[in-house]
Amino acid sequence: MGYPHQPHPRESLVLSKHFGTPEARTLDGWKKRGGYQALEMALGMDPVAIQNVVKESGLRGRGGAGFPTGLKWSFMKIGDGKPHYLCCNADESEPGTFKDREIMRWTPHALIEGVAIGAYAIGAETAYIYIRGEFTEPIERMEAALVEARAAGIIGPNAMGTGKTVNVWVHKGAGAYICGEETALMNSIEGKRGNPRIKPPFPAVAGLFGMPTTINNVETLAAVPHILVNGAEWYKKLGRPDNPKSTGTKLWSVCGNIVRPGNYEVEMGFPFGEFLHEVCGGALPGRTLKAIIPGGSSVPIITLEEAERGLMDYEGMVAVGTMLGSAGCIVIDSAQSMPKQIARLARFYAHESCAQCTQCREGTAWTTKILERMVAGDGTAEDFDTLLEIAENMTGKTICVLSDSCATPVISGIQKFRHEFEALITRTTVHAVPVVVA
Ligand SMILES: Cc1cc2nc3c(=O)[nH]c(=O)nc-3n(C[C@H](O)[C@H](O)[C@H](O)COP(=O)(O)O)c2cc1C
Repeated sequence: MGYPHQPHPRESLVLSKHFGTPEARTLDGWKKRGGYQALEMALGMDPVAIQNVVKESGLRGRGGAGFPTGLKWSFMKIGDGKPHYLCCNADESEPGTFKDREIMRWTPHALIEGVAIGAYAIGAETAYIYIRGEFTEPIERMEAALVEARAAGIIGPNAMGTGKTVNVWVHKGAGAYICGEETALMNSIEGKRGNPRIKPPFPAVAGLFGMPTTINNVETLAAVPHILVNGAEWYKKLGRPDNPKSTGTKLWSVCGNIVRPGNYEVEMGFPFGEFLHEVCGGALPGRTLKAIIPGGSSVPIITLEEAERGLMDYEGMVAVGTMLGSAGCIVIDSAQSMPKQIARLARFYAHESCAQCTQCREGTAWTTKILERMVAGDGTAEDFDTLLEIAENMTGKTICVLSDSCATPVISGIQKFRHEFEALITRTTVHAVPVVVA
């Protein structure tokens, strides 16, 4: 099976260079493409030196929050006598995001290499790749590649003949959005219900099995071998020269009402307008683009005009009122109803709430109920205030940010597309005024 699209000439292929090449999935094929050179190099280095190269490269977490990876790794106290763990987050549950599964499908050894380097760099002998249970093919590919890597002595008790131990295991999730949240993910690996944990303590202090743990996204870890082999300076140059805070390339998953949906890899800072219209082919015939959710469903919705002014990196997205998030870009055109799209997202969050926090459990459910009533034509003018008040109570008040993620599209949707909600209101609430009879 081929990869869904031919690379666009403006794509910068690093992580996706071998997507669509079945031979790259095998150990031999991967080694022919330079695979495992970075791990060999890493195992000969001091773990802190690896952390420093990654720090210097400017790599930031690709799971959504954009936290600097080298800094996160440096929170792990090497030599503290405790078992350390690395968890690779391959849950990829954010609506609109479908890049990590492609890394695992096409280049499983790239991920194993990144995970093994990451584990060694934080002083961990054991790493878990937590994969969403429905990802049948990625799970098969990862497990087959792990069998090959173990048999070749690349990972295991004497990794690459260095006497160092790096064990990597796949752990299958059971398809809950919340298990992508890092502390819920650790509970899930421990066999507990996937509820987020209160922080502090942070995972670097007490994480998996109560031990120091680092959690990193698939794309984050897959970038690490390239950084080690090509150097931090090379990675820093990928991006716009005027923004050293966002470096490297980013995989963008594009879906919705657009001519060429798919995964694209572009350098940080690529112009968003050119990306949408030229790289992805723009609107479908006879339609116009209306709204974009650039970073997975949890980030603020922006209008086409805002998107066209945007640059595709962390700061560039903030400058136009949204966030890079996981770069799961959902494109919505003029034929769609915004209230209907937002109600659908709210239903997703209500379904996926773990229900620990009242603001989230009740807020996601109330939001869904009100939005669906509005979509059905039974909205009232008061609904705007009620929705915004609920959204405010759902923001910054819960253990994890699932609740905030539900509130975000509601707030930005009402701000930017209020007229579409107003058009749905058919019934105005009449306040009874007592009639005074003389
Ligand atoms: C509800 C929720 C779902 C999340 N889902 C994912 C996910 O599917 N994949 C992921 O990498 N990060 C997800 N995250 C972010 C993780 O908690 C964590 O920040 C990330 O895995 C850290 O990796 P990074 O530093 O490499 O980005 C989610 C967060 C929340 C609050």
